Amino acid sequence: MIKELKSEIQSYVNKRLNEIYSLEFNTVIENPKNPQLGDLAIPSFSLCKVLKKSPVECAEVIKNILLELDYFSSVECVGAYVNAKYSRTHLAEKVFKNLSFDKAESNGKTVCIDYSSPNIAKPFSIGHLRSTIIGQSLGNVLEYKGYKVVRIDHLGDFGTQFGKLIWAFKNWGNMDDVLKDPINTLVGLYVRFNQEAEKNPALDDEARKIFKELEEGNAEYRELWNKFKNYSLKEFMRMYELLNVHFDKFSSEAEASRKSAYIIGELKKKGLLVEDQGAQVVFLSDPLPPAIIQKSDGSTLYITRDLEEVWDRYKEFKFDKMLYCVGNEQKLYFNQVKEVLAKMDAPFASGVSHVAFGLILRDGKKMSTRTGTAVKLEDVLNESIRLAKAHIDEKNPNLEGKDEIATKIGVSAIIFNDLKNFRENEYEFDLESATRFEGQTGPYIEYTSVRIGSILESANFDPSKVDYSLYENEIMFEIVKKIDEFNDVLDKVVEEYAPHYLAKYLLQLSTLFNSFYAKERVLIDDEVERNTKLNLLKGIKNTIDKGLTLLNMSVLEKM
Ligand code: ARG
Repeated sequence: MIKELKSEIQSYVNKRLNEIYSLEFNTVIENPKNPQLGDLAIPSFSLCKVLKKSPVECAEVIKNILLELDYFSSVECVGAYVNAKYSRTHLAEKVFKNLSFDKAESNGKTVCIDYSSPNIAKPFSIGHLRSTIIGQSLGNVLEYKGYKVVRIDHLGDFGTQFGKLIWAFKNWGNMDDVLKDPINTLVGLYVRFNQEAEKNPALDDEARKIFKELEEGNAEYRELWNKFKNYSLKEFMRMYELLNVHFDKFSSEAEASRKSAYIIGELKKKGLLVEDQGAQVVFLSDPLPPAIIQKSDGSTLYITRDLEEVWDRYKEFKFDKMLYCVGNEQKLYFNQVKEVLAKMDAPFASGVSHVAFGLILRDGKKMSTRTGTAVKLEDVLNESIRLAKAHIDEKNPNLEGKDEIATKIGVSAIIFNDLKNFRENEYEFDLESATRFEGQTGPYIEYTSVRIGSILESANFDPSKVDYSLYENEIMFEIVKKIDEFNDVLDKVVEEYAPHYLAKYLLQLSTLFNSFYAKERVLIDDEVERNTKLNLLKGIKNTIDKGLTLLNMSVLEKM
């Protein structure tokens, strides 16, 4: 609102200068260096030349124009500058009257987001968490801002490791174990295969042969592979349910590989495919290495499958943007993807973005399955839920439905702990600090909302008794301005695909409330002051709750 007001004022001044002096003038509005001077400052220098007046005289001209508006409590000239202060009363009224949390109207644009995209028969590690959470929350914000969002989970279900897995299963495994504990059993088999293959490299050839037959449609292998895939998916679904994550579409590398004749044909037609040491490659500009599209044995690569898939998605959804939420390690790779698409003159090439993110570290080091430092997401979530439960047992043991509430708090804590970091940065994972009820945490924000909720519940708020002029008070007005920032913050989230702006914003708003509430009494006798303060609290709570929902966190009534 305040942002829009600024441009409204700007156009008004321009229009009046044009009317009075027939000037095409573009007024600059700045923030005063010293906030004490006002909310906006307009320098008059550039007017001097055209008006043939001194800076001080020109400032007077602007001042008089500003005074025609009833937006300000003061307008003053200081040298060549006009400084103006908004009437807080007027502004606060505008902010509250325009406060709405309805989804924006459709802007006719479609965004596909590829996120989570785990590899089957492997544990859903905490590394996959970032992609899942960032993608899901970006989707929420984009949808709220009027985009049509298509959420896609692109499963890693292709590769020679499936040959290894099938060989290991046939020789050492049984379906009962797989059914009981799918992913652990499959990982166990895979690890054992690799250990054995180190001693006996012939096993690798066997695995390669199985994989080739799998790709050619061997029924027995296909059935096993399907089972492994379905059991894995079932485990992933459990995570998604806990995280409240949903997809519109599941795509698969194996399927993309089967369809890849299309992309290979297109690249050939465009004369982009070149034979290099037996492989088919597309040469790219320095410093990008060539994109290998097809190996000499005819098999596809990761990039072949992504290229095939992105064309399919374009045909199906006619997207304006295609976002890939994938770790920083694949930066070079996605640059290759983008350049191949550009070379193909794909009409959607400029809409493809790699929404990259940094690693989650433990004790400063990358977590890895191989070194045993990887953490299973499910274990982390369960531990977080346990800590939330312990906290409730200590502080509010009689809380009704506390198991369910602890689950929501625990999961939200993990989500927030991730989203508060700028996605491109790495962060150190510390469960204990993530689940605290104070500090920069999810529970702190949820608790702020609950706290305000219970004040409002006991207070019987009457909106007709609000007096906007009481928002002239500095502390209250600061909160009004913060509430007003919400939509600008969401714009930034969309522009940079960076949900941390929203996470940080919710922390700031919560802190503002908590210091306000520590200083000021709300439930006082004076009816007008009480309701004016309650109106402020309601604005804070609605903003926080919407923000939490967009970050895919829970809004609680009690905790
Ligand atoms: N399955 C891949 C991995 O875990 C991520 C896939 C990302 N999406 C894509 N379309 N390449 O590394």
